[in-house]
Order: sequence, then C-alpha cells, then structure tokens
Amino acid sequence: MSTKAGGIPARIRPRSLSGMQPTSDSLHIGNYVGALVNWVELQNTYDAFYFVADLHALTVPTAPEVLRRRTRVTAAQFIAAGVDPERSAVFCQSHLPQHAELGWVMACLTAFGEASRMTQFKDKTAKGQQSNVGLFSYPMLMAADILIYDADRVPVGEDQRQHLEITRDLAMRFNQRYGETLVVPEPHILKQTAKLMELSDPTSKMSGSVSPDAGVVWLSDDPKRIAKKIKSAVTDAEMEIRYDPETKPGVSNLLVIQSALTGVPLPDLESSYAGQGYGALKGQVAEIVVDAVAPFQATMTELLSDPGELDRILAVGAQRAGEVSAGTLARVKDRMGLLPPLRGDRSSRKPPA
Ligand code: TRP
Repeated sequence: MSTKAGGIPARIRPRSLSGMQPTSDSLHIGNYVGALVNWVELQNTYDAFYFVADLHALTVPTAPEVLRRRTRVTAAQFIAAGVDPERSAVFCQSHLPQHAELGWVMACLTAFGEASRMTQFKDKTAKGQQSNVGLFSYPMLMAADILIYDADRVPVGEDQRQHLEITRDLAMRFNQRYGETLVVPEPHILKQTAKLMELSDPTSKMSGSVSPDAGVVWLSDDPKRIAKKIKSAVTDAEMEIRYDPETKPGVSNLLVIQSALTGVPLPDLESSYAGQGYGALKGQVAEIVVDAVAPFQATMTELLSDPGELDRILAVGAQRAGEVSAGTLARVKDRMGLLPPLRGDRSSRKPPA
C-alpha cells in the first residue's frame, strides 16, 4: 500500500474496529454479552481491529503498576472471549503513535463549543471526576482511533453514540476541507437487550467503573462468587417470571442474561418458567453463567500466566495495525500541507562546495 497521498486505499473486506478502556481489574459479563460477543462475530466478515484504549485510561490518574496489570488483563480477556489474534489485530492503543498524532489533528478541527457540548464530559465532570484537558479532548482521540484505520463499522454501546457522531462529523469536515481522505464510519450501536443492569440495583447499568461489587459479575469472579451474586440479585415482591423491564427490572435482567448466553428468545424463556418461582430462575441463571465463564477463565489464566507471550501477541497486532495507521496518517498530513519528512542520513546531504 502506498503511503503517498492517493485516495482511500482499497480494502478487500470492510473493517470493523472497537476498543475498551483498561479501567478495572476485570471486564464484566455486561462487556461480554453486550460487546465482546459481537466483536467475535464480526471477525467472520470484517477485517477486525480491537484494541485496549490505554491512552484513554490516562484521563483518570492510575498507579503505573495497576494500569500495566489492567492492560494485560483486558487484552487477555478479549482473547479469552473469542477474539482471535490470528484473524483480528489485537493491540494496545499506545503502541501506535499515530493515534495520538491524528488525535491532535482532530483537536484542531474541533470547535471549542462543539467539544464543550459532549455529554460524557459534562456527566463525568458533574459527577466529580477531576477534569483535565485529556478528558476534554477524549472524543477527538477516539475519532482518531477510528479514522486512522479507515473503519467502516464501529460496534459500541449506546453511551458512545455521541462520540461516533462527532467522529463522523470530523471525517466529513476533513474530507470537505481537504478532499476525500477519510472513511466516514457507520455507527453500530449494540442492541439494547444486551445491556445488563446491576444485580444489586437493577435500575442502574452494570458498569465496571462505578457499580458496587455485589452488582457486577466480573469475568474473573470465581464460580461460587458468581452463583452467590446471582442468587442474591434484587428482584421484586411478585412471583411471576416475566420480561417487563419497567416494573420488574431485576427479573428482566436475569432473563436477559440467560437469553444472551443461550440464544433462547425471551418469550420462550418466559414460557419455560411458567409456574416456577424466582429460586428456580436464579438457580438456572447462576448455572448458565458459571458454565459460560469456566472456559473463558481457563484461557484467561493461561494467557496471564505467560505475560511475555501475551506481549508478543500484542506486538503482532500492533504491527498489523501500524501497516494501516501509518498509511492513513501520511495521507492526512500530506493533504493538510505538512511536509513529508525526508528519510536519509546526514552523509547523503550535498557536501558544502
Ligand atoms: N470510549 C470507549 C469506551 O469507553 C473506548 C474507545 C476508545 C473506543 N476509542 C474507541 C471504542 C474507538 C470504539 C472505537 O467504551
């Protein structure tokens, strides 16, 4: 592929891309059924790029050894969930300097007011998160993550919708100003039904960074703990097992978990529980989750027992990613009028007369 200023290079297969921040010691079952299952499926038809968004994680101060550990765990969990590093590029965002470089370009294309209107920034700062300029420019780095790979499809949760919209706006703005250069990605907002709620408070979304431990099934929880959390899940005072997220959020959440892990549609699950109580529901869901997590944990443990090998997998992913990102960045820079750096050593300079 040329790194000269041609158009957008032809791609054999469309590209999918997504990332997750390494902000907790483990991903949770909501990340699994809500996102990773989708990533895994997209590998079949897309040229897939999946990365650990470690630069984004720097927007929250974290001890270096904690960040290091969480980054490896997140990568290992992608793979344990079925992301296949032979087929998909699995890598760390910080290993590709082009992300931050294109992030700067995106920041220069973004109006201050436009960035100030991003709801996630407003929410996070309203909730008391210490703000810094990195948090403010988070969406521009995310736009760069996506645009640097000419991604066609970006599977993310509803909470990232606005970030995808600004990404599309920035790509179109760039193309308008400098000519067709960047692929405008399609958002792929993951299904609402795969959004899991906290077990201890089924009106709040299960979140790795804010939910209490009792509300979350961590993919690294041991089976006994998982069963205990599910059996203690908050339900309601009725008896009937019915999908009704408005009035029965706890029961509905358990049904969604079961449906997501087994593929059985919700109405069929409802009828299978006819005449049974919440004890039966919880027992069955606990068993299904424990069974689903067991092979996952075996792979994860194996990967984490050999960090050298995991780092090599990430190096291969970074190499594949770099082949694409370097080309895009060169195209962008050229279009904007940044001079190409001439390679060559000092001895090749014309000697003084
Ligand atoms: N902001 C995303 C999240 O918190 C993570 C992310 C960073 C991402 N860069 C991305 C997701 C690019 C998709 C594409 O979930």
